[in-house]
Amino acid sequence: MTVLEICTYPEKVLLQQSEPIADINEEIVKLADHMAETMYSAPGIGLAANQVGVAKQLLVVDIAPRRPESDLIVLANPEIIAVEGEVTIEEGCLSVPDCQAEVKRHEKVKVRGLDLKGKEVEIEAEGLLAVVLQHEIDHLNGILFIEHLSRLKRDLYKRKLRKKKARQQG
Ligand code: NI
Repeated sequence: MTVLEICTYPEKVLLQQSEPIADINEEIVKLADHMAETMYSAPGIGLAANQVGVAKQLLVVDIAPRRPESDLIVLANPEIIAVEGEVTIEEGCLSVPDCQAEVKRHEKVKVRGLDLKGKEVEIEAEGLLAVVLQHEIDHLNGILFIEHLSRLKRDLYKRKLRKKKARQQG
């Protein structure tokens, strides 16, 4: 099992646009595999490639990792092609430790991307799955969930995280 190191705010790779994947090759399949193992071990319910330091448009999601009906989704070059409704739930992020906050998102989304065979797939999601997909696609665009908060809250969290990081490095 390979568990990769998870990057945390304010590492640069988290704040930049990730590159589309031109070819689903062995390296990408292996990366997806390692990302899933890292997500399950964290534990988390979603992970974007730039969270493990790779600026490529690849995500893994599993909103029921501990249940037998566990269903891993792996998507390359994902894009949201339709949205509906609004929902607010509390989010957290492996790259933004010790921070949970309510975020307003679309309640339903349709996402198009490539699976690990390079085949185009469309996923219609609602509720938690829709939220996680939006959160991970945001990651690939260099956007952390704290960017959706009010400026006051966001600045507070950022200051807190920077301080914490400085303490760890010092
Ligand atoms: Ni996240």
